[in-house]
Amino acid sequence: MMAVMATIRKLETLSVRDLLADQDLTRDDLKLIFDLSERVKAAPSEFSQALRGKQLAMIFEKPSLRTRTTFEVGMTSLGGFAVYLDHTKPRLGEREAIKDIARNLERWVHGIVARTFAHESVLELAANASIPVINALTDLFHPCQALADFFTLHEKFGSLKGLKLAFVGDGNNVSHSLMIMGAKLGVSIRVATPPGYEPKSEVLEAARAFATETGATVEALHDPVRAVAGAQAVYADVWTSMGQEYAAHMRSQVFAPYRVTKDLMAAADSAAVFMHCLPAHRGQEVTDEVIDSTQSVVYDQAENRLHAQKALMILLMQDEHA
Ligand code: CP
Ligand code: NVA
Repeated sequence: MMAVMATIRKLETLSVRDLLADQDLTRDDLKLIFDLSERVKAAPSEFSQALRGKQLAMIFEKPSLRTRTTFEVGMTSLGGFAVYLDHTKPRLGEREAIKDIARNLERWVHGIVARTFAHESVLELAANASIPVINALTDLFHPCQALADFFTLHEKFGSLKGLKLAFVGDGNNVSHSLMIMGAKLGVSIRVATPPGYEPKSEVLEAARAFATETGATVEALHDPVRAVAGAQAVYADVWTSMGQEYAAHMRSQVFAPYRVTKDLMAAADSAAVFMHCLPAHRGQEVTDEVIDSTQSVVYDQAENRLHAQKALMILLMQDEHA
C-alpha cells in the first residue's frame, strides 16, 4: 500500500492545479489520468486510503445523478469525505460573492467540485481558492465526462489515435469537451447539428489547433449520415440541456432529423459503439432499440466516471509531502 502511494507521489503529477476546461490538460496529463484510472479500476482496494482525511465540497447549481454519486462515492472509497452543497436556489453568487465562497471553503476542505451555469463561475472559484477546483459541468464544458468517455473508448478499442467519433445533435458543452479532448488524443471528431446549433466557433478553432498536432480532424456539419460514415463511435446527448428547458418543445422539432436510430448506426463503422453521457431522453435523441443494443456502451461510460474521477482526485488532491 505504502509503495503504491509512494510511486504515485514520486512519478505522477498533473501540470495543472485545477480541471476547469479540457484544454487545461496536456497529453501527458491525459495519459497519467488514464493510466491511473486503469489501476484504480483494476484494484480499488489498493487506493482505499489514498485521500485519507481529505474533504471535498461539491457545489451543484443543476441536478445530477452520475456526477454527484461518482464524486461522493469516489471520495469515500479513497478514504475521504464529500459534502454536497445545494446551490440550485440560490445560485452561486446570489447569497454571497463567489470570491467569499471560495475563501470560506478553502479553510475547511481540500478540494471543490462545481457544476454551474456560467463557466465563469468555476473560473472565479478557482481564481480565489488555494485548493483544486474541478469543473463538474458548465454551460461550456464537461471535462469529467470526456475523461470517462475517452477512457471507455480506450478500453474498447485498445488505442485512441486514429479513431473517429461522430457527435449527433446539439453543439453543446459535451460536444465541446469531446472536440477538444478528442483532438488532443488524436481522435477525429465530426459534430452534426441542425443549422444554428453548431458548436461555438472559438471551441472549434481551439480543437482544430490541437488536432494539427495529433493528425486528427475536427469538422462541424449538418448531415448526420455523413457525420457517422466510418465512425467507430456515435455519440448522442439531450437536445435540451439543463437551463434551456424553455425551448424544449421547439428543439424537439428542430432536432428530430438528428435522432440516433438503428438505420443511422448502420451507416457507421460495423464495429461502432453507441455513446451517451446520460441522462437520455429515450425516443428523442436515441431510440430504445439503439440505447439497449449490444453496441451501446452508455453504462460503461457511467461506470468509468467513477474510476476516472477517482484518478483525477488522487492526482489533484494527494499530499505533496506525505
Ligand atoms: N452525465 C452526467 O454528467 O450525468 P449527471 O447530470 O446525472 O451528473
Ligand atoms: N448537455 C447536457 C449534459 C448533461 C450531463 C446538459 O448540459 O444538460
